Amino acid sequence: MKLIIFLFLLKQSFIYTLAVYNTLAYKKIVSPGEQLNLTYFGFDIAYVATTRSLIVTAPIADNIGQVYVCQIDNLHCKPIERNIVRDNSKYDHNYWLGATVEAGSSFFVTCAPLLVKHSENGVGTTGGCFISKDNLSIEQFVLDQNGSPKNTTFESRLSSFGWSLTISDQESIVVGGPAMYTGRTLLYMKPEASNSPYVAAGIDNDVDFNFGYSVTSGYFATSKLLMYAVGSPYGFGKVLFFGQQWRLFKQLKFKQPKTNVGEMFGASLCSARIFGQRSDLLVGAPGRASDKEYNVGAVYVFVANKLMALNYKRIITGRKEGSMFGSAIINVGDLNGDKKDDIAIAAPFENDGRGVVYIYCGAEILGLKEPKKPFNFLQMIESEDYYYGFGLGLGILNDYDQNGCNELAIGSPLNNTVFILPCFAYITVELYTEYPDLQNREIINAVAQNDVNETHFRFDTCLRVTFPKKPTKAYAELEVEIEISGDTKASLSDPNSDKKYIVKIEKTTKQSVEQFCKKIGVYLPTDGHYDSPIKFKIIAKQINDPQLQSNPDPSHVVVNENSILSLRHDIWAAQCKNKMSCLPDIHLDITNLFPEPYLLGSSETEDIKMEVTNHGEVAYSACLKVNVVNAAIVRASALSCTIGDQENTLTCISQKPIHKNDTWDIGHISLKMTDATNKDEFITLKVRVYNNCKTPKIFTLIEKQYKLTRDLNDIEIIGRTNLGSVINTTVEEIKFEKKILEHIYTISNKVANPWLGGPKFKITSMTPHFLHYTKSPVTAQTESGHYLSCSAIATTEKDMTTICSAEQLLKEDPIHVILQMYIDSSTADDLGALRNISMESKIEIFPDGLWNGPFSNISLSQSVVTTIIIERTTVALWIIIVASLFGLLLLSIIYCIVVKRTNFMRRKNKQKTNELRKSIRRQTIRRSMMAQSVYDRVPEEEQPSSDLQENAQRCET
Ligand SMILES: *[C@@H]1O[C@H](CO)[C@@H](O)[C@H](O)[C@H]1NC(C)=O
Ligand SMILES: *[C@@H]1O[C@H](CO)[C@@H](O)[C@H](O)[C@H]1NC(C)=O
Ligand SMILES: *[C@@H]1O[C@H](CO)[C@@H](O)[C@H](O)[C@H]1NC(C)=O
Repeated sequence: MKLIIFLFLLKQSFIYTLAVYNTLAYKKIVSPGEQLNLTYFGFDIAYVATTRSLIVTAPIADNIGQVYVCQIDNLHCKPIERNIVRDNSKYDHNYWLGATVEAGSSFFVTCAPLLVKHSENGVGTTGGCFISKDNLSIEQFVLDQNGSPKNTTFESRLSSFGWSLTISDQESIVVGGPAMYTGRTLLYMKPEASNSPYVAAGIDNDVDFNFGYSVTSGYFATSKLLMYAVGSPYGFGKVLFFGQQWRLFKQLKFKQPKTNVGEMFGASLCSARIFGQRSDLLVGAPGRASDKEYNVGAVYVFVANKLMALNYKRIITGRKEGSMFGSAIINVGDLNGDKKDDIAIAAPFENDGRGVVYIYCGAEILGLKEPKKPFNFLQMIESEDYYYGFGLGLGILNDYDQNGCNELAIGSPLNNTVFILPCFAYITVELYTEYPDLQNREIINAVAQNDVNETHFRFDTCLRVTFPKKPTKAYAELEVEIEISGDTKASLSDPNSDKKYIVKIEKTTKQSVEQFCKKIGVYLPTDGHYDSPIKFKIIAKQINDPQLQSNPDPSHVVVNENSILSLRHDIWAAQCKNKMSCLPDIHLDITNLFPEPYLLGSSETEDIKMEVTNHGEVAYSACLKVNVVNAAIVRASALSCTIGDQENTLTCISQKPIHKNDTWDIGHISLKMTDATNKDEFITLKVRVYNNCKTPKIFTLIEKQYKLTRDLNDIEIIGRTNLGSVINTTVEEIKFEKKILEHIYTISNKVANPWLGGPKFKITSMTPHFLHYTKSPVTAQTESGHYLSCSAIATTEKDMTTICSAEQLLKEDPIHVILQMYIDSSTADDLGALRNISMESKIEIFPDGLWNGPFSNISLSQSVVTTIIIERTTVALWIIIVASLFGLLLLSIIYCIVVKRTNFMRRKNKQKTNELRKSIRRQTIRRSMMAQSVYDRVPEEEQPSSDLQENAQRCET
């Protein structure tokens, strides 16, 4: 058979929950030689400590009942000698010897409630009890009351004494006979067979039925006065208390909660010291159930917490229908070392009649721990195999193996079997640690305390073990595991021996408390971040747990649930005066590696250098946040720095603590200098210096400004004309051909730094009488197609002035300015008298819009002059005429050849040519709007169309 256990986890934080009874190492006693016949062997069990013998009853053996004395060592049982004779064959019923058995220190008492008695007045069932002092034979108690009147009738003395039985710690004996009349009880003051008892009858105590169904003794009213409790489960059930000489003790206030008829309140009683010095009372009601259920069972708890009173505290209910939880209740003594008695409660018919025994710890019963109804048991013991009535008989063995706790015997009488379960002795283990002071480690080191130096320290991990009085020898093995975490970089110096180690605990002296300590070394690297704590987690757990062993040594102890087995500590190792807050004194040095003021456009990138020095206490987590205005951060040499997404921030976090007089070299930081414009006066560097990154509100702000200058050399103006600076022409040409002359200026920014708010420039051109200007002669446009606003401000006889302004001048987007003019053909004849004429224009840029600073004396201007040379016709007229005729003739011949050859093709192309013409016209229009010469700069583009134009013209002539 196997016993299985369920442990109720009292507190999840405990690694162990104490299993009080070892279900792997039980012993089993079976009815000797009578396995075939059912004898109810195990119906009741008692233990005689002086002879170390277990008394097991078999009340239906051979129709009278039998009592066995069993030796636990060899599991051998011998029936006691009983000289009970059946001397009237009419009374052939079973006498039920062994219906109850109880033990005193050196004797036991067992009863046969259906025993038949002969006397001179007649024969009848009286029941009765027997005492055995030698474990061999039994002797019957007298039933007659002390000084009882002789004239009582025999019938009135018929009874069923022995259905219940208790022996007090003063060895007085109470026998209950509930079955006849209203029930009676007997009190024997001494364990002597000749001793006559006091009698108490239900009828005298307002009880109608079943007085004496259960009995127990205890110190219910005071801690000195021995009292008796008698239960009568009939009706609502009742418990009565009696004192000396079997007198009803009315002073004790006992207020019974509302019970139901039939729940059998008082069917079992158990006294136990849980709350204090007095006895508390547990009352079984095995028939209790809700309306829809039957025989679930319950136990009521009454606590001696007030003077002269037992107060109802709580009810513990059974778990299953029909289980009759509370049929038997037994005080098993203190199992877990909390100095409170623990209780076993049987539910003998749970699991289809197989039975379960529950162990409750006293503290739980009192409800000192979280009330968790109804399954707040410490251990649940049931049989896995088909043993029936498990728990109908319960007995405790007063520490048979001397390990400090009482073994439990559980009878399964429906299978003639008794199980003995050993219990575990316990120790209480308290894990604790002692850490040295880790601040100012160098100084401590100077004091030559060798547990601490700058890079190492040792601390104690200890187990303070409290041993119980018994067993005298005790041992256990615990494994201690140490874990270091956190951001400090601290680690175990010797992880092989310290990360996990085993402590062998042994009780060697008589001392009840012993410490088991080990020194654990910790390595503190110099670059550790000790402004955060070193996190220690220490866990101890029992290994080679005796609870998992089938043959444990009684001195192999279990670690008690009250033990402290895990610790977490945050240890500060900052080398500073104040705990957790060092006072560094850090300074930032910024050096620029470029001349100041910085001339914009002089370079693409420039470097600065940063360095932090500390003159105060250690800076464990220094950091910097750099913000740059008017430049971008493109590179930082230190790995500890990260550039922000917008490229204008940089965060640097020191990877190592900065000790006193130490330097944190952040290195070079490259700035892109091409973002600043003429409107920016400074490149500004704002640096927040944090002693401790983790306190983002505390920083010092350092601001550096680098003055910027700019000069107009960045701006370049190139002037050109569309037809060249010298043009040869004739008066006839001037007359018949309108030639547009253009002066083109290109203003460009040679550097990447933009110019903003300009440029504003002025174009001046002369206005002699022979020149004509188009309606808006000046157009200005950026290369990307943006028109500038231009306005003619003055046109005098001498010159014409137009002012244009741009919003910005970017390197990639130069400004083109075109001035268009032509010669008035009506003045051709006048001009013929002149050898040459020149047309001049000039552009000037105003620096004031671009630059706020002192004006540079560079004048930004450019001029373009076109000289027109008018040639005179000196050739004789006849030569001209002849040459012209000849030329015409030649042309006609070429014309005819070409026309004939290309007639076919031309017709075909005519349509094409027309389209082409349209397109050319469009282009021409456009070209007159825009600067033709702009396109002239890219002849590749323009060349094909002008060729076509020429061809087309030639063919139409
Ligand atoms: C078992 O019971 C049978 C009949 O009930 C009886 O004859 C026999 O003697 C019993 N055996 C023992 C060992 O008592
Ligand atoms: C216990 O007794 C019952 C009924 O007599 C029987 O069915 C069952 O097998 C027995 N259990 C064991 C383990 O012998
Ligand atoms: C730091 O420098 C100061 C001044 O130079 C000096 O007095 C001090 O001893 C130095 N401290 C350490 C820890 O080196």
